[in-house]
Amino acid sequence: MPSARIGVFDSGLGGLTVVRELLSQASGADILYVADQAHVPYGPRPLEQIRVFAEAISRYLREQGCGTVVMACNISSATALETVRVALPDIQCHGVIEPAVRSAMLGPPGAVGVMATAGTVSSRAYSRVLARSMPGTQVIEVACPEFVPIVEAGLTGTAEALDACRRYLAPLRGQAAQLILGCTHYPLLLPDLQAAASAMGWTMHVVDPAAEAAREAISSVGPAGTTAGRLVLSTTGDGARFGAQARAVLGYAVAPAVTELRWQDGRLTG
Ligand code: DGL
Repeated sequence: MPSARIGVFDSGLGGLTVVRELLSQASGADILYVADQAHVPYGPRPLEQIRVFAEAISRYLREQGCGTVVMACNISSATALETVRVALPDIQCHGVIEPAVRSAMLGPPGAVGVMATAGTVSSRAYSRVLARSMPGTQVIEVACPEFVPIVEAGLTGTAEALDACRRYLAPLRGQAAQLILGCTHYPLLLPDLQAAASAMGWTMHVVDPAAEAAREAISSVGPAGTTAGRLVLSTTGDGARFGAQARAVLGYAVAPAVTELRWQDGRLTG
């Protein structure tokens, strides 16, 4: 069994939607989270660059004693999962795309809509995994480049967020039987997405991969415990700002302490 310390990373806030699940599933494992806010958003970046970031962050998490790493980031899962598994064979590395598709397999029959970043859509990773797991299913992928900047700027619940939701949902309305949130930031927009969908007279079946991704990671660190372990948060951006953002996502009364990490010669340092 790998060490009972789970490393989780994303470009920013979004991966906290997976951390939230890891905490609520109470594995007893310690969780180390890295938000690479120096580079957010990942979505418009070249896929090769995402691979470099994902491998360097995974190495850092391994150095911190994590035997399991969760790429709580779809674009990293789409482009870097295999690279990191080969480069770091001594840790268990999990992505979020396979868990998302497993969850969609339990959803209603019909076309599957995927909302994701431009990079994830261009990688075609969802189309490939869905074709393998749900052969014959029509897949409609929609790139939503405005969503991550909206979430990171704390603009959820605003007219701007609602307007973006309306525009990105339009091509899926009446087409998709279910909708995969193919970016870990998007569950934070769920109230806006639901409001936009209901204004269109659409009751959406939404798939958030977080719960299944957390279950998969926990199963690789052994039997589920009954308590939540320690959570250590870090960011390559501003620690105080990320602490306030994390407080809101995790529902804490006060902002948790956050360690600031820095990129130096392609490596993360504390
Ligand atoms: N939350 C990440 C994802 O799931 C990255 C989003 C971004 O930085 O563009 O793809």
